[in-house]
Amino acid sequence: MNVIRLFLLLPLFWGILEGREPSSLYLTWIHDPASTMTVLWHTPRHDKYSMIFYQKQGQGQEWLKKEGTVKRPSRTDIHVHTVELVDLESDTEYLFRIGREGNIYRFKTLPLKLDRDLRFAVGGDAFMYYQLFRKTNLEIAEHNPDFVVIGGDIAYAHGLQRFKGMNWEVERWENFFREYRRAMVTSDGRLIPMVVAIGNHDVPSRMVDPRQKSLLFYEFFPFPQLYVSYRALDAGSYLSLILLDTGHTYPIDGAQTEWLKANLKSRQPLYKFAAYHVGAYPSVYPYEGSTPAKIRQHWVPLFESEGVQVAFEHHNHAFKRTFPLKEGKVDPQGVLYLGDGAWGVAPRKPSKHWYLEKAAQSNCFWLVTLGKEGSTIKAFNEEGKVLDEVMVKPLQPVFSGS
Ligand SMILES: [Fe+2]
Repeated sequence: MNVIRLFLLLPLFWGILEGREPSSLYLTWIHDPASTMTVLWHTPRHDKYSMIFYQKQGQGQEWLKKEGTVKRPSRTDIHVHTVELVDLESDTEYLFRIGREGNIYRFKTLPLKLDRDLRFAVGGDAFMYYQLFRKTNLEIAEHNPDFVVIGGDIAYAHGLQRFKGMNWEVERWENFFREYRRAMVTSDGRLIPMVVAIGNHDVPSRMVDPRQKSLLFYEFFPFPQLYVSYRALDAGSYLSLILLDTGHTYPIDGAQTEWLKANLKSRQPLYKFAAYHVGAYPSVYPYEGSTPAKIRQHWVPLFESEGVQVAFEHHNHAFKRTFPLKEGKVDPQGVLYLGDGAWGVAPRKPSKHWYLEKAAQSNCFWLVTLGKEGSTIKAFNEEGKVLDEVMVKPLQPVFSGS
């Protein structure tokens, strides 16, 4: 191991030595968020042990244990440990630790029914600059969300011209996870899970084979279908969150569009939201761009016919809300496109597009508060100032007691 490599990995060793905690510890969902939780952590080469001890909050001495898997992405010295806890109770807090002696952490499953408001944050273009990323992270955590959606360009491991190579990529991802872990904790100490969509800065070139073992995005994030980042996350029968790949590891048209069609049709939740990286209705980039045009051709008609209320878009590094749009026109029955990917990047000046009801050169994230009878979706900047607020109605009328 050369000196530079050793230097880059020092934070990993420090993390373990100082707090008996791996530097990268994070939560996500592969399957049902009301009954499962997936815990991931990274360790250096020597650690081959993947065991989680867990219990329901208040259970006393009784720890259950679950063994997971460990893998080492090629050309790295990192072991990625993954343990999926299953058969959990919904809307319930659990304690867990890595191994018998590790620090104790907490998480909470999502409710099966919308008996309480569910809160989640959505943003993209996250970890470009430390300061902005940290600032926005703290603002997001302040709202104690149940989870966070990151809509691509997560760690900027690729495409920043000055730096390249596996050491750089590993360092970016490890720093991203460390910063996220530090900030994304609720005021009562619960770790906030993340679900992700893929962006152009998460891959080394325009379109890559998702199965190549050195693509860290897929090594660090597990999905229901191996190496397929487009997926649906269903919470009870109230929320279907459709996460899509805007042409980074899968083409927009073809199999992904077919999957989208079938999966939008088969779901009838109260709320159908989509999230992905490149926007159909960009605030900064041109409307005529080839990726936006493809999304409008292949996905937007499905959003419109299958009841998607909101599509969260990113990549533009600005704040935006479109008018409700249907068949290429402003229509009160249309889909809202909210964005536009400015979590931890320098914001850009939006262009004047006919479909933008509101746009600004500002950092932002969206906070969704889902309720049975309606939802509010608010945009905040990195200082916590409210930029915007919209109301969204559920797809079906809700009868009291349901
Ligand atoms: Fe991007």
